[in-house]
Amino acid sequence: MASASADGARVLVASNRGPVSYALDESGELTARRGGGGLVSGLSAIGPEAGAVWVCSALSDGDREAVRRGVGEPGVRMLDIDAATHADAYNGIANSVLWFVHHMLYQTPLEPVFDAEFRRQWASYEAYNRAFAEALAEEAAQGAAVLIQDYHLVLVPRMLRELRPDLRIGHFSHTPWAPPEYFRMLPDDIAAKVLSGILGADRAAFLTQRWADAFTDCCHAVLGPGIPSGTRIGVHGLGADADFLRRRAHEADVDERMGALREQIGTAPDGSPRRSIVRVDRTELSKNIVRGLLAYGQLLEDRPSWRERVVHVALAYPSRQDLKVYRDYMDEVRRVASAINSRYGTADWTPVVLHLKDDFARSLAAYRLGDVALVNPIRDGMNLVAKEVPVVSDEGCVLVLSREAGAYEELGDDAVVVNPYDIGGTARALHEALSMSPGERAERTKRLAAGATALPPTQWFLAQLRALDA
Ligand code: G6P
Repeated sequence: MASASADGARVLVASNRGPVSYALDESGELTARRGGGGLVSGLSAIGPEAGAVWVCSALSDGDREAVRRGVGEPGVRMLDIDAATHADAYNGIANSVLWFVHHMLYQTPLEPVFDAEFRRQWASYEAYNRAFAEALAEEAAQGAAVLIQDYHLVLVPRMLRELRPDLRIGHFSHTPWAPPEYFRMLPDDIAAKVLSGILGADRAAFLTQRWADAFTDCCHAVLGPGIPSGTRIGVHGLGADADFLRRRAHEADVDERMGALREQIGTAPDGSPRRSIVRVDRTELSKNIVRGLLAYGQLLEDRPSWRERVVHVALAYPSRQDLKVYRDYMDEVRRVASAINSRYGTADWTPVVLHLKDDFARSLAAYRLGDVALVNPIRDGMNLVAKEVPVVSDEGCVLVLSREAGAYEELGDDAVVVNPYDIGGTARALHEALSMSPGERAERTKRLAAGATALPPTQWFLAQLRALDA
């Protein structure tokens, strides 16, 4: 058993991606870049006396070099896990198996293939989880609270409990959880390890009741009805950070991006500004960008009156480009967007404006000016875009929302809801959204914004800490 360091941290967070990353330039100079998100705001709210420590992985050459040079940010411990081990764990298991299972993305006649290569990668995933458990065990003060994040680190709670039974351990899943029929595709021993890894925590928490229920259903199906566990289940629906977003969305760079987008959207033949359907996503396989484009194409086909009067602004930022299937998906997004543009575009109307370079100011600009926001994931833990748009929108924006997004639980009543697989249905929803009266659209946006900000990131984080105390 590892012993607690006398002056160790009283609050610890563990996640694959940390709050800071380092870029290494040709001259060997390292530049630190701080990220945002719910955990960053949450940790900043607890005050320095907790001596919080965030344990994360080195993800790039820059990060690894920073660890080697000892250039750390205070309160961040970056683990320089062997690059091949990390790649097996992150690309191989976390993103190609666990992500696929929870989002139900396999094309099952041929996938998944749980062969010897899978077993080899699984061993790396165990080693990577063990490195986290050991680092947390070293850093934590007696009785500290440890909040472990996501599908990358499902084995850590049990490993850490064995090293340090004094700690209070929480696990939070930011993704959906698969129903048992799908989850049990995993080899039985692996399915049991995933569940009992998380059940090593005092509390396992999820973004919605639906995902929490799926987790307990999987436990009963895989481990049997009498699970020998004292793990409590919790739900914390992360909300948008209204104060930050409203402030940030009115800075000069966002105004500048709005001008550029307005120019690309242009004016209709009658001289009025064109309407816009916006979407903003990391190009994850679950975001359903291609069917969104197909639905927009269907709208233009079925209702020619929208031609030249609307533009689909699709911001699709690169994600997980180490994986071929993600690169192929981006290619397909590009291909379908340009097919729509060649089929319907005119000399002064580009039906789809596609941007692939990550630019937060441009995302906020799209949130502010969009008439309709299309959020149609196949499955999504929450989807913060659905919550951020109504908070930032200048004149109200109709939300077309997939019933498979976690955000549907809180926002479904005021959204135009779609089955994400139904292209005709999504096209009709887009028409309905574009046709909504300004008054109704503004009323709905107000209610959506209230729902979206019910649990801001700091409260979301503090509620988890309090619940671990109980
Ligand atoms: C998504 C999920 C998060 C996850 C993250 C990892 O946004 O909602 O649950 O932690 O992806 O992303 P990464 O870029 O680190 O693979």
